[in-house]
Amino acid sequence: MFKLIYAPGDGIGPEIGDVALKILRFELDKYGVEYKIIPILFGGVSIDKFGVPLSDDALSLIKNSDAVLLGSVGGPKWDNADPSVRPEKGLLALRKECEAYANYRPAKIYGPLKDASPLKRSIIDRGVDIMIVRELSGGIYFGKRSEGEDEAFDTEYYSRPEIERIVKAGFECAMKRGKKLCLVDKANVLASSRLWRKIFGEISSDYPKVETSSMYVDNAAMQLSSAPYKFDTIVTSNLFGDILSDEAAVITGSIGMLPSASIGKIDIFEPIHGSAPDIAGKNIANPIGMILSAAMLFRYNLNMSGPADEIEKAVDRVLNKGLRTADIYDRSAEAETAGKTLVKVSTTEIGEAILNELE
Ligand code: IPM
Ligand code: MN
Repeated sequence: MFKLIYAPGDGIGPEIGDVALKILRFELDKYGVEYKIIPILFGGVSIDKFGVPLSDDALSLIKNSDAVLLGSVGGPKWDNADPSVRPEKGLLALRKECEAYANYRPAKIYGPLKDASPLKRSIIDRGVDIMIVRELSGGIYFGKRSEGEDEAFDTEYYSRPEIERIVKAGFECAMKRGKKLCLVDKANVLASSRLWRKIFGEISSDYPKVETSSMYVDNAAMQLSSAPYKFDTIVTSNLFGDILSDEAAVITGSIGMLPSASIGKIDIFEPIHGSAPDIAGKNIANPIGMILSAAMLFRYNLNMSGPADEIEKAVDRVLNKGLRTADIYDRSAEAETAGKTLVKVSTTEIGEAILNELE
């Protein structure tokens, strides 16, 4: 029995979650997977009810599950909350408790949405298809810290086993993609980065087919926007991965469409965008990031590439037909010039269209 925790969260989370869940259920049924979906309160909604973003009850349900599907958490309502009970705190606790150490964040340009990218066509036309493998349960996010009135510090700490498992995840991922892996670090300054480089070098000998490189994070930030086509798979620390994955996402022009998978003891799947409180409750949010997260769940958690491929293809077909949620509606000039009429649709409408393709 596949036990899935469903945590729609705050803002647009429940709207896009409803749509994604329908598609997920459809494919689970189609492939005869026996499953149980267990909804939990997580993030701001949990703060409102229980005073904490991740309750003990929710956590014990999670620990007895096979995977977690998240919507999004946070919003202005909780922005001034005590830092120890902010929604983000719940997200970090969840990642740590699940030991979700490998975070896969793909950034690719969808053909029909090329014009949504802020980059020049001459750059985009060379292709953007990057996977950032971000370490997610260690580093400066979880290192020793102290917060005083006049001084404060955070620590970038990594142990060998932590680095080894994420670097291996990077190589395994590169093997399934373009067989190019770039380690992004700051080895000219940071001791922890130098340990990453050493271990990266050691593990690379187990993967002779993978072409490796390493790059300082400042240079990587520059190259990502000037020559994104140079990258295939990137492996990096928690903080650098956080920053670079936002940059990679924005160059695709469609942040609402990007999914993520966080793999470890218990795997977590969530769109990379936030809770968009300004458009919540209007049925206009783009559910594709969460739908594609459900596809990643099939591929990475259930090891079923069939439904994953089907979902991804259905999304492509719906976009090719010209259906667009508001966030990507105005920016798809290419489809117009190709003679396609773009149709602005709601969250539920694009969901139905994707479901129809699957049926
Ligand atoms: C992300 C987010 C989180 C992070 C925040 C909300 C704690 O930015 O998932 O990238 O920094 O990891
Ligand atoms: Mn981030």
